[in-house]
Amino acid sequence: MLPKLIKYILKETPQSQEVEISGWVRTKRDMKNLIFVEINDGSCFSGIQCTFDRSIGMDRETEAALSALTTGASVKIKGLLVSSPAGGQAVEVAACELRIFGEAPAENKHGKTPELDIQAYPLQKKRHSLEFLREIAHLRPRTNTFGAVARLRSRLAFAIHKFFQERDFHYLHTPVITAGDCEGAGAMFQVTTLDHAAVKQFAGGSVDYSKDFFGKKTYLTVSGQLEAETYAMALSRVYTFGPTFRAENSNTARHLAEFWMVEPEVAFAELKDNMALAEDFLKYIFKTALEECSQELEFFDAHIENGIIKSLLHIANTKFAHITYTDAVMELEKAAAADRGLFEFQPRWGNDLHSEHERFLTEKIAGGPVIVTDYPKGIKAFYMKQNDDNKTVRAMDVLVPRLGEIIGGSQREDNLEKLIWRLKDMGMRTEDYQWYLDLRRYGSVPHSGFGLGFERLIQYISGMANIRDVIPYPRAVGQAEF
Ligand code: 4AD
Ligand code: MG
Repeated sequence: MLPKLIKYILKETPQSQEVEISGWVRTKRDMKNLIFVEINDGSCFSGIQCTFDRSIGMDRETEAALSALTTGASVKIKGLLVSSPAGGQAVEVAACELRIFGEAPAENKHGKTPELDIQAYPLQKKRHSLEFLREIAHLRPRTNTFGAVARLRSRLAFAIHKFFQERDFHYLHTPVITAGDCEGAGAMFQVTTLDHAAVKQFAGGSVDYSKDFFGKKTYLTVSGQLEAETYAMALSRVYTFGPTFRAENSNTARHLAEFWMVEPEVAFAELKDNMALAEDFLKYIFKTALEECSQELEFFDAHIENGIIKSLLHIANTKFAHITYTDAVMELEKAAAADRGLFEFQPRWGNDLHSEHERFLTEKIAGGPVIVTDYPKGIKAFYMKQNDDNKTVRAMDVLVPRLGEIIGGSQREDNLEKLIWRLKDMGMRTEDYQWYLDLRRYGSVPHSGFGLGFERLIQYISGMANIRDVIPYPRAVGQAEF
């Protein structure tokens, strides 16, 4: 039988019943006859306090284990669950037996051979910088911060499935390896089994990709959208939730080379339906976080980003603002004219919004999330539905304070002719998109969808400043450790 988790033991009514705790030592305090040991098993934010009383006497093995016990060691403790005289906890364990599974030395330890040398356990009680913890990403889940992030991620991944399943969306698995560039941004990782040393010999000539594993050039997907559209044209409502890859050379606090994206795609839905879906979806996730990860959020509020609970509560209950790209640029220009030093990049119709502009729109103009729609077609992907003005497309980006873009989506171009012209216009090969164009040849319908960056969502809810701290093993330019 699996051991009972601390999460459940903490909720029991203390009646001096026997309990057994398995976990890792967070702290040990020695005060005369009493030794307080806090154990955490990661099942919830809190640990449980186990108190050993020397004056009662204990078995030899326990006594030896207690003196050897250090932060980070893994243990099993037996004792009685009693109500706690200390503040901040309802129950504690009057412990009688301690066994150590694995030590975690507090000082460097010499082994029989150099390979058996062990450095002192790096997670001592003091507070560590997030940069330092990134270097020991395999140990950082044992800290309060990263334990909380991991539980939040897990719980919200489940909530995402729940939201869509409850609304009759079918979960679709789109391929990780693809031959096409969904976003047309060219920021793709190539997948090949060709021998690079051999390829080098062709230098100057061209590589024959028909000899490659798939018989053509292939990449890691940047988005499952195009494939999701094919299934939405059959099942009406689908969503994907999987890893996506971008070889963008952007070393920022909100970009990863590998991130998880949630992409719903809905048939018979126009842009306004898509906007409403995105808003309902985000609010559902915020509410879930507030209700089901309250301990984690309290920690983030106190130690990571002050006021985060209040702002999530506010946002979960307030209508999102809507603004067109054209109006947004007008507002930004007005603000930039009034204060020349306000922006590093001057806002200009036709250019993409920079993150400083996105933040200004949310923080100063809307005072909360804002959905910006109808972007110039020149800065958006080929598949977006063209507006009658011939200049803009039915795009929508959901922007949030602190972070900027959290969701990007659109109504899709469902007119065959317009889509073909757009592809040609952008210098893309229509031959590569025949299957995609078939959707417009046979039973085409208005349809829409969006993509949510899962790490940006976790960043937003936790207040963590760097996206590399909300995914277990971040992949970014020059970084693929572990
Ligand atoms: O705006 P994007 O590029 O949209 C798409 O990929 C569409 N195919 C989605 C769709 O309509 N089905 O990406 C969507 C979201 C962004 O809003 C952002 O939250 C996240 O994905 N994202 C990233 N997150 C982390 N690192 C990166 N490099 C990201 N690029 C995009
Ligand atoms: Mg985008």
